[in-house]
Amino acid sequence: MLIGVPKESSAGERRVAASPKSVAQLVKLGYTVAVEEGAGKAASFRDQAYREAGADVVSRREAWAADVVTKIEPPTDAEIALLSKGAVLMSLVAAPRSPELLAKLAAAKVTVLAMDSVPRISRAQALDVISSMSNIAGYRAIIEAANAFGSFFTGQVTAAGKVPPARVFVSGAGVAGLAAIGAARALGAMVRATDIRAAAAEQVESMGAEFVAVEAEAQQSSDGYAKEASADYAAAAAKMYAEQVKDADIVVTTALIPGKPAPRLLTEEMVASMKPGSVIVDMAAATGGNVAGSKPDQLVTTPGGVKIIGYTDLAGRLPTQASNLFAQNIVNLFKLVTPAKDGVVALDMDDVVIRGMAVVTDGEVTWPPPPVSVSAAPAAVAAPPPPAPEPKKPRDPRVTWTVLGICGAALLALFWVSPAGLLGHFMVFMLAVVVGYYVIGNVSHSLHTPLMSVTNAISGIIVVGSLVGLSQSQHDGRTDLAILVLSVAGVLLASINVFGGFTVTQRMLKMFQKG
Ligand code: NAI
Repeated sequence: MLIGVPKESSAGERRVAASPKSVAQLVKLGYTVAVEEGAGKAASFRDQAYREAGADVVSRREAWAADVVTKIEPPTDAEIALLSKGAVLMSLVAAPRSPELLAKLAAAKVTVLAMDSVPRISRAQALDVISSMSNIAGYRAIIEAANAFGSFFTGQVTAAGKVPPARVFVSGAGVAGLAAIGAARALGAMVRATDIRAAAAEQVESMGAEFVAVEAEAQQSSDGYAKEASADYAAAAAKMYAEQVKDADIVVTTALIPGKPAPRLLTEEMVASMKPGSVIVDMAAATGGNVAGSKPDQLVTTPGGVKIIGYTDLAGRLPTQASNLFAQNIVNLFKLVTPAKDGVVALDMDDVVIRGMAVVTDGEVTWPPPPVSVSAAPAAVAAPPPPAPEPKKPRDPRVTWTVLGICGAALLALFWVSPAGLLGHFMVFMLAVVVGYYVIGNVSHSLHTPLMSVTNAISGIIVVGSLVGLSQSQHDGRTDLAILVLSVAGVLLASINVFGGFTVTQRMLKMFQKG
């Protein structure tokens, strides 16, 4: 089958749905690929690079006439008219907000796999362009904020004085929010973040930020996404935002509830409470905005000197990276629909991923799909509590005393028959056990492995002892085989202990090395 990759037509769109690398992968799956002339120019992919990867560079009409058309933005009316009957289109569709577009695509008798309708289940993550794009957008939100902010992000101690680190507050710790936290931390800022889902706290902390909880019951729907906040929650959240926002230099808001307008989180008063020069990036500006006063695709400066950025094309502002990830998501979709690697698309509508993405099937609107239970969702039915452990029967004290008595008698008998020096050695051994117990007991658990590998080196003393033994295995011109074998075994085993210990330490240290 022929895959067509047309040039994006919407103003300012610099991304493209295929990269030279993805073309090579599609060719390996048995497809022929036709890329429109100049399609990758704005993303820094030359026509020649596509040719070298195995694609034909063709006219606009030819790219649209392909069996499968892959693109980024939803198609315009003029583009729908260029699609062949029975073709498959893979692109963003925004199905919940676009019933008219779905009707037009159905009328064109095509099948549409919406790249933004991938169900959020683990298996489908490799095709999830929403996550890929949000990740880039979260990163770019921080870069835009840093560009508009008049100071450093990182704290510094200079000859002229101390510069405190910027304080960043991120609302919504989904894909975009976590990427923003990562980017702000990497620039050296002090980051705090909040989310309506309590489960997000662990992820926020793992990114090195502080989680700010709202003193009310967390809100999560049964499908794992956030649900609209209750009145109690909203009141407690407003109090928290008022406190956090006035102290922050940068605020990034990413709160989203699927299928609903963006929740309003920051009021005009909260924005006015921020210092002049502070920056807010409202990532939800396209869907109504989380912040009072934000405007889609604009940078607004309030009378109080706070800059509110409402860009809706944040991912597209990194066109090469965004195209690479989008193209890789498309390749992963092709891998799913080409199990035989024969260059033929086979849509299995029993597969929840394909069914979820198929918003139009053979000229029929098939959106919305039946609900899918997502991996982030809490279990529908709480697991039964584990059975209570049976109470331990107290041990009969007579058994304990008998065992102790037998051990004591055995020790006495041993000392009775053993050479006189043994008692002294035994005392030293017991003291070593007690001292070792207290020394090692006070070392943090995370350091036990390096500690053990260093103490293993102490068995180097066995190597010395064994070497002395080896030298004594020859006497009167004869070789004492028992001493020889024991000494060789001693050297071998103790060496394994010594070198093995250091190898383990080396491996552990490598785990902490960057790159
Ligand atoms: P996501 O679903 O992964 O994350 C949204 C997060 O917001 C979730 O963790 C959710 O629990 C949280 N949330 C919902 N209501 C909340 C509330 N009232 N208070 C605090 N947290 C709340 O979504 P993703 O992919 O991270 O996208 C985030 C936003 O960024 C969306 O609005 C999306 O449309 C937007 N976006 C904007 C781009 C741009 O160029 N401006 C590009 C990509 C995404």
